[in-house]
Amino acid sequence: MPSAAIAFDRFRPLQDDACDSRIVAAKAALGKRAVILGHHYQRADVYKHADLTGDSLQLSRLAGQTDADYIVFCGVHFMAEVADILSKPTQAAILPDMAAGCSMADMANLAKVERAWRELSEVLEPDEKITPVTYINSAADLKAFCGEHGGIVCTSTNAKQVLEWSFARREKVLFFPDQHLGRWSGYMIGIPPDEMMVWDFDEPLGGLTPEQIRKAKVLLWKGHCSVHQMFQVQNVLNFRSRYPEGMVISHPECNFEVCKLSDYVGSTDFIIKTITESKPNTRWLVGTELNLVNRLAEQVKPQGKVVQFMAPTICVCSTMARIDPQHLAWTLENLVEGNIVNQIKVPEREAEFARIALKRMLEVV
Ligand code: 13P
Ligand code: SF4
Repeated sequence: MPSAAIAFDRFRPLQDDACDSRIVAAKAALGKRAVILGHHYQRADVYKHADLTGDSLQLSRLAGQTDADYIVFCGVHFMAEVADILSKPTQAAILPDMAAGCSMADMANLAKVERAWRELSEVLEPDEKITPVTYINSAADLKAFCGEHGGIVCTSTNAKQVLEWSFARREKVLFFPDQHLGRWSGYMIGIPPDEMMVWDFDEPLGGLTPEQIRKAKVLLWKGHCSVHQMFQVQNVLNFRSRYPEGMVISHPECNFEVCKLSDYVGSTDFIIKTITESKPNTRWLVGTELNLVNRLAEQVKPQGKVVQFMAPTICVCSTMARIDPQHLAWTLENLVEGNIVNQIKVPEREAEFARIALKRMLEVV
């Protein structure tokens, strides 16, 4: 019998150490009934409690494969939504702090995407000519929009293959919400820069002329990640001049010039693998979130590898960092008592179409 939920206020004043032992005890009590998924950007004091870790593509797959009753997602809101959509109806996807959002995902919403689609229909027939592609960093209703309009979801791992899939079906792509991932992936498949136009969702017709829309192959939503925009060309140039033999690796959410100057560009998991598997005594400049970079730097230090953060300032994903040991302990102890707190439940009709777009992606890679 579930009891009344334990209030978070009782956990707020707890020290991290106290939370630590309570998390361990609650995990032991829950056993296989709960699985904790942790994204690579998660803070160290939470990440260490994750049963499974990965980038957003891996975590989506894992969410669809686990048999646990409770999928506790130490990530951000859109990730827990994907876990709910891809898991069985009897499982519960849980986000320990509802305020753990993604500022980039918030840069697109259904009203604005539907308006863009309507405006595009003044120039051409979007449902025949344009594949809507949403980065997984987006709300479930945008994934549903893609599912309903012949579109697809992508992650930073598979955006290139997803664009190829899209162009095999329709001649243009509307890519949202991250212009940088869209531009880099378009560039990777050989689309000239002047055929990739930014769609400014605050302007009528995206700020473009009908002629520009007809010419464009990719329309890039004017969104970005507030963390990755901190990495600048000058950071790369400074590193190159100091360490000519050093290597530069960036996430494709970085701007185009930073990606172009990098030796490697790829997802969080790609970054971890590339540096882990590199030769000993190498030096790396990394353009992605600080928690990941700090963890990786410690991990490869014994092999003489030096891992440096690309920006001179601290850039953490502050929304993901809202999942702290206090919220995790609170969530798990409630589950032990039979109380499901902070469940993420996508409405069924939305989930149905979003699942179509996600499954298309999972079949591509
Ligand atoms: P990955 O798909 O590489 O895990 O990235 C997710 C993300 O939000 C990067 O900012
Ligand atoms: Fe969103 Fe940027 Fe955080 Fe990734 S790093 S979850 S894109 S805000």
